[in-house]
Amino acid sequence: MDYEGKVAVVTGGAGGIGRGLVHALLARGAHVVVADVEDSALGAAVAECTPLGAVRGVLTDVADPDSVVALAEDVYDREGRCDLLFANAGVTSGGGGLPWEQEINDWRWCFSVNVFGVAATVLTFLPRMLEAGSPGDIVATSSGDGGVAPVPYASVYAASKAAVSCFIEAVAHQLRKVAAPVDAHVFYPGGGLLDTGLWTAARNRPPELERVRPRPPAPGTTFAEFKAQLEAAGLPATVVDLDRLGAKVLDDLDDGRYILGPDVDRFGNLLHARADAIAHGDLPPTLLH
Ligand SMILES: NC(=O)c1ccc[n+]([C@@H]2O[C@H](COP(=O)([O-])OP(=O)(O)OC[C@H]3O[C@@H](n4cnc5c(N)ncnc54)[C@H](O)[C@@H]3O)[C@@H](O)[C@H]2O)c1
Repeated sequence: MDYEGKVAVVTGGAGGIGRGLVHALLARGAHVVVADVEDSALGAAVAECTPLGAVRGVLTDVADPDSVVALAEDVYDREGRCDLLFANAGVTSGGGGLPWEQEINDWRWCFSVNVFGVAATVLTFLPRMLEAGSPGDIVATSSGDGGVAPVPYASVYAASKAAVSCFIEAVAHQLRKVAAPVDAHVFYPGGGLLDTGLWTAARNRPPELERVRPRPPAPGTTFAEFKAQLEAAGLPATVVDLDRLGAKVLDDLDDGRYILGPDVDRFGNLLHARADAIAHGDLPPTLLH
């Protein structure tokens, strides 16, 4: 794909995996609009990326549909188009724990960003992209946790990402059915440990969606603790280069893949094992299998 002159919108692009996507898009000549809820991180990201190419930031809360509509109006007013849409913003539900210890506010916060945020982003931009009639792609960042199989101690997050994968699959089928010039894709980050802001996602949790019963952070819920646990157990703990991950996503897009990301072989094998278990009426293996 020739990215030169294409307009890309990246939600959650101020940090982590989204920033890797922004870097990769700028390196290939795209004009990038970074949409993020974290004002200071957004300013720092745009300042860091400005020497790399055409980039600007728009403060956006994907959990607020009006904010997403304002983003689209801003992009269509100023850039006049959106060729590549990355619905990437996401949060955890905070702190791990047993599924029945999660509170409704954990569900509300996680789903407001991961599910309603992705829905608002697609519902707002896709009709405009279709109306433009030019080739385009939408990419939603899901997770192997939920998109492929649950991590049982991250049950709410897993449920949210299962919803993202299922929704985007439906979108992709319907786009093909109507022979639209726009394709949809799902992105599963991976390839090792991801040292991103997801570990501190609660920094952006709205006060009205705080837990009713506050709980202290569970052991192993910081990136450093998690990495140390893996190393102590003799398990692989390679940290992923997020710029290379972003470049891999664009390479996979260029190859015309529906699933983007480095772990398709592992996920395929796990899904075979899950299918076998389901066919026998057994509990399928988790992502930790
Ligand atoms: N880190 C991982 O291990 C991992 C694995 C699989 C999938 N993912 C997914 O990758 C995506 C990016 O996460 P990350 O790991 O880079 O974390 P991150 O916290 O570094 O990046 C997420 C970005 O989204 C922004 N954001 C949060 N709430 C928002 C909102 N309401 N509106 C707009 N922006 C918002 C944050 O400010 C941040 O810049 C998420 O969808 C996440 O679920 C992460």
